[in-house]
Amino acid sequence: MKKYKVGIIGCTGMVGQRFALILSRHPWFEVAAVAASARSAGRTYAEAVEGRWKLDEPLPEALGALRVFDATADVDKVAGLVDFVFCAVDMKAEDTMELEYLYAKHECPVVSNNKAHRWTPDVPMLIPEINADHAQVIPYQRKRLGTERGFIAVKPNCSIQGYVPALTALRDLGIERVAVCTYQAISGAGKTFREWPEMLDNVIPYIGGEEEKSEREPLKLWGKLENGVIVPASDPVITAQCIRVPVTNGHMAAVFASFEKKIPNEEIIERWVSYRGRAQELELPSAPKQFIHYFEENDRPQTKLDRDLEGGMAVSLGRLRNDTVFDIKFVGLAHNTLRGAAGGAVEAAELLCAEGYID
Ligand SMILES: NC(=O)c1ccc[n+]([C@@H]2O[C@H](COP(=O)([O-])OP(=O)(O)OC[C@H]3O[C@@H](n4cnc5c(N)ncnc54)[C@H](OP(=O)(O)O)[C@@H]3O)[C@@H](O)[C@H]2O)c1
Repeated sequence: MKKYKVGIIGCTGMVGQRFALILSRHPWFEVAAVAASARSAGRTYAEAVEGRWKLDEPLPEALGALRVFDATADVDKVAGLVDFVFCAVDMKAEDTMELEYLYAKHECPVVSNNKAHRWTPDVPMLIPEINADHAQVIPYQRKRLGTERGFIAVKPNCSIQGYVPALTALRDLGIERVAVCTYQAISGAGKTFREWPEMLDNVIPYIGGEEEKSEREPLKLWGKLENGVIVPASDPVITAQCIRVPVTNGHMAAVFASFEKKIPNEEIIERWVSYRGRAQELELPSAPKQFIHYFEENDRPQTKLDRDLEGGMAVSLGRLRNDTVFDIKFVGLAHNTLRGAAGGAVEAAELLCAEGYID
């Protein structure tokens, strides 16, 4: 198989750094260009991240020697060097939207972590295990943009990754209502404890914009392609509270759900552990062998023990039991910068390559 040349836009950030590590040992992809803001442009990648490298593992030397491009001013150069780009930038939504259109219109596909295009109706929001078929909207998007190769695909928010897989495996039971509380790591804000010491010994009951995303994004994932756009599902109703907790990585979710049709809890667990998606069928390099793991122990999953399961790409569930208000309750966990960000985007890109949307 050919090796695809890829770019990282937002290479200096928390998610960009994750991309660098994942891509440095990827069997299909090799990093050919890195870009960030004008503040970082012109320096080597190693110089640009000096003093602000956030991961335990160091930046690989070969990547550190790459010169950082200005993501906007150098779009021609970056698009000329790569087959597609990953994008994870902290910019105003309208500026991110424009930046991603710029690359797509330069015939450079964009696989994005950003929220800007998640609700653009002909942009697929992909979790390859859940809605791989939504990639079929890409030809319609290309028609709108007037491109042959260029398009934008996104991945959903990190907060939903710990519970949407579990609910997807139960959707045919008719999910009526869902309540979820998420307990989210500080890396979700692009931060470490060194940069955010106020988070030590602290809990903050607010994460801007996160509750709305947690309630709405699952509906697009469960939507259908109709007339060239993804039409979101109209149910179930989801209510969410999102809370920042003092952990480095790993978003936990406490979930309550009611269904039209009831089945025994053992059957629910059986559905979870046997769940397979398109990513497993295609044996994508980043796909976990088993997407959903269920822990029988009462004190699992635990953030520190279980977030790295299957390279941080598996979803861990536990504590399934009946509830007094809803039908069931359970706990879910997913690694927010791996499954929930860079890893999820890399897996989405693998799907788009394997299915022929990126050549
Ligand atoms: N952290 C997570 O768990 C997570 C999960 C899912 C999605 N996301 C999303 O991913 C994106 C990045 O998050 P992050 O946590 O990595 O943020 P971050 O650590 O703050 O990094 C932001 C990146 O954006 C770049 N940037 C800022 N302004 C720019 C501009 N005008 N032009 C080009 N690049 C610019 C920065 O470059 P400079 O260094 O040059 O300023 C840096 O590389 C956000 O949209 C976030 O919502 C994050």
